[in-house]
Amino acid sequence: MPAATAARIDIAAARPSVRYSRDVFGHFIEHFHRQVYGGIFEPGSPLADEQGFRLDVLEALRELRVPNVRWPGGCFVSAYHWLDGVGPNREPSYDKAWRVTDPNTFGTDEFIAWCRRLGAEPYICTNAGTGTAEEMADWLEYCNLPQGSRWADRRAANGHPDPHGVRFWSIGNENYGDWEIGAKSGPDWARLVTESAKMMRRTDPSVTLMTAALDDLDWTLPLLRSAGKYLDLVSIHGYWDRLDSVNEPSGYEEVMARTLEPERAIARMEAIIRASGQDVGIAFDEWNLRGWHHPWEPGAASIAARDLNDDESTYTMADAVFSASFLNACLRHASSVRMANIAPTVNTRGPLFVHPEGVVRRTTFHVLAMYANLLADEVLDTAVWSAPLLAAGNEVPVVDAVATVDSATRAVTVALVNKSPEQSIRCEIRIDGLLPAGRIPATLLAGDSPDAFNGVAAPDAVHPVEVPLGEDGTVELPPHSVALCRLEASLPAAPAGTGWRHPGLAGGWQRG
Ligand code: AHR
Repeated sequence: MPAATAARIDIAAARPSVRYSRDVFGHFIEHFHRQVYGGIFEPGSPLADEQGFRLDVLEALRELRVPNVRWPGGCFVSAYHWLDGVGPNREPSYDKAWRVTDPNTFGTDEFIAWCRRLGAEPYICTNAGTGTAEEMADWLEYCNLPQGSRWADRRAANGHPDPHGVRFWSIGNENYGDWEIGAKSGPDWARLVTESAKMMRRTDPSVTLMTAALDDLDWTLPLLRSAGKYLDLVSIHGYWDRLDSVNEPSGYEEVMARTLEPERAIARMEAIIRASGQDVGIAFDEWNLRGWHHPWEPGAASIAARDLNDDESTYTMADAVFSASFLNACLRHASSVRMANIAPTVNTRGPLFVHPEGVVRRTTFHVLAMYANLLADEVLDTAVWSAPLLAAGNEVPVVDAVATVDSATRAVTVALVNKSPEQSIRCEIRIDGLLPAGRIPATLLAGDSPDAFNGVAAPDAVHPVEVPLGEDGTVELPPHSVALCRLEASLPAAPAGTGWRHPGLAGGWQRG
């Protein structure tokens, strides 16, 4: 007995579509546990090259078409001095954030070389904890100016005569939190960001510049009024299953109950930006369903407890379904969300687990690969109706969806999520109210249960499969699944030539 129709996706073909930024498929690597050392960088490993880069990690991450990578933190950066990580004769330094000694053998030049090998843009987050505006600007000078300035000449002396051309820069990380080294008050933060941004703009005005912010009016409105004229984006972070000092990940239903929270954070930030009158976008530049397990107590035991992040069984279809819902939220807000970075990329809670003999693609890896490779390049104006799902006492829509169109071919690809742990869901996909004729092949990630996961012993237990998911505008979504559906029907050509267009609720009439 087919499931009753429990979701309807209405695509408005004639309404303007929005080109989203592929930087929403961004990544984040921090000097924490085995993300850098023993993750992407493992000199001496038989799987690493002469630069110490794990080649199997690079090969796997290339499947994600990673657009950018944020580095070196995160909390780590708030007491990191970049000069410790460049040039010959590197000396180890004590990392006050994570209470370990960093060998400093992986620094700015190594990070940028690794990004170039991956084909991703480097994104550097600067030290606004113990650092100064001048230290931030000097780092930018080291990376981006042609020879003839003090720090650019230092880069050349270190073997890199040509500017690195680092496009993405951020001032600080979570300096609003008392857990952060060098945490600031709101007014102090607004002042420091303003002066730092001013100095960085005078060093290289071409960069895309962002800063740590909160979807909180009292913190971010003064920040934007003071520094907004220098900024391109403001950063927010989100971990919805907080595990900082307890490693007890929530179950599938508790996770589903949280699937609407990312979009609420985006909407709050959009409202604050509107109130500020500043033309800045949003970088959700640290996100993951689950926070990292890192007990804050001092001592060797709390360092060792970080290995609990490696528990393979905690990266299930809950993580995959939540991650797809998060990316859908970013895409629905493509006019404001211009970047997002899963935290982190490798090990800890990342989509790729790296061990001495190889790698494991966790469930979230496959979601990122499906979105980065199969979605079309523009988001369509789409209304979604969904039946409810009662999850851990909360009611959420059982289906989440976003529709995209290929700006060249006008072909439509729809990303659909079924959050139900046990029900198949019948969805109608309509274009201007009509069910389009034709087959609907799909790439489907479901696993054999809500708690399915990939591990070293069974690295492909959960993997995408190609299936005929439906036809003539109707598909049947298996439980706990993410499906990228390709409609055979294409949209009519977009209105040609210049004229007036109204992008809908998001704005007013535009000439173009
Ligand atoms: O748990 C990792 C930390 O989470 C990052 O270093 C920080 O930016 C965030 O609070």
